[in-house]
Amino acid sequence: MHRNYQLTIRSFFKLFLGSEYLVIFLTSLGCATLFFTGWIVSIKVHNIYDENCNERWIHLNTTELKNALHARVYGEHIAVKTVLNHLNAHFITENPPKALVFSFHGGPGTGKTLITKILVNHLYKKGFKSQFVHMVVATRDFSHEQTTDQDKIKLRKLIEDKIKQCGQSIFIFDEADKLSPDILNILKPYLDHHEHIDNIDYRKAIFIFLSNTAGPLLNKHMIDFWRDGKTRDEINLKDLENIIANTAVNTAGSGYYKSDLISHHLITAFIPFLPIEKEHVVHCIKHHLVAKGHYDTPINKIEEIAQQLQFYPNETDKMFSATGCKRVEEKVDFIMGEDQS
Ligand SMILES: *[C@@H]1O[C@H](CO)[C@@H](O)[C@H](O)[C@H]1NC(C)=O
Ligand SMILES: *[C@@H]1O[C@H](CO)[C@@H](O)[C@H](O)[C@H]1NC(C)=O
Repeated sequence: MHRNYQLTIRSFFKLFLGSEYLVIFLTSLGCATLFFTGWIVSIKVHNIYDENCNERWIHLNTTELKNALHARVYGEHIAVKTVLNHLNAHFITENPPKALVFSFHGGPGTGKTLITKILVNHLYKKGFKSQFVHMVVATRDFSHEQTTDQDKIKLRKLIEDKIKQCGQSIFIFDEADKLSPDILNILKPYLDHHEHIDNIDYRKAIFIFLSNTAGPLLNKHMIDFWRDGKTRDEINLKDLENIIANTAVNTAGSGYYKSDLISHHLITAFIPFLPIEKEHVVHCIKHHLVAKGHYDTPINKIEEIAQQLQFYPNETDKMFSATGCKRVEEKVDFIMGEDQS
């Protein structure tokens, strides 16, 4: 009896000890499962929210881009059409023959920056916050009189590092006409038809050069056209391409035109931006009014805002806006603010 009792206690203890191990075992298992689930979930979440170089984050929907350009860019039919066609061609093939290189020309406020912004916001889900969108501003990033070796290394490194990270990167060169030929020539191999350079493929990239230099010549051409009684829609890309080419010859001070990018035909397309007319300015005014919550603004108010802007060729013939759509927003604020005060 006594012995049996001892045995029972011992086996009870064993059972108890056993179950303690079991509890520890199950708890550890639970923790491990929880940990791994958390880990996998966090990877999934990262994949959803972290930008990657894939179609989820970079893609072209031509319909959407076309609608946005038509809704927001006024009077630049040649630019809109040409940009859309080239983008389409670039995105339609898996392996484009070379990087897409746009050279935008025109005076201030004609829409060069606007089209660039719309394009970036449509191609990249994160827009200008995307790690694949790179902006180079000539006077900010390369402001020395003389191009140094450091400048060249800096630019080469930017292009190589960023394209290694993602082939479908975009590089925007603002004030391109202020860059020296030495700097611009650094870009030559990346814009050409090379399949690979050190195992990196540069052909999916997009480069956009923005410049004001041809502005005055384009404006003069438009005034001539208008005096001849021709309409804006009759102007074609060929006429204007010649003007840009002439600028190249006539603009001794601009390194952009002297660089190999032009002479080696590395620019996919020269895109002219025409000086905009009063009716286009009125579109801009209406856009900014609505954006600021002023709906149904009477026509005389819109006219009053337009009066604040400069037009040329002269006071009698107020044909083209001197500043394009650039100063429209501040004029809208000024005139509408006067009413409230
Ligand atoms: C492009 O966008 C339009 C409008 O948002 C949509 O209807 C269409 O399905 C999209 N096309 C593709 C290929 O995603
Ligand atoms: C303005 O330009 C037109 C030609 O475009 C000319 O006929 C007119 O005389 C000019 N007016 C003034 C005030 O200069």
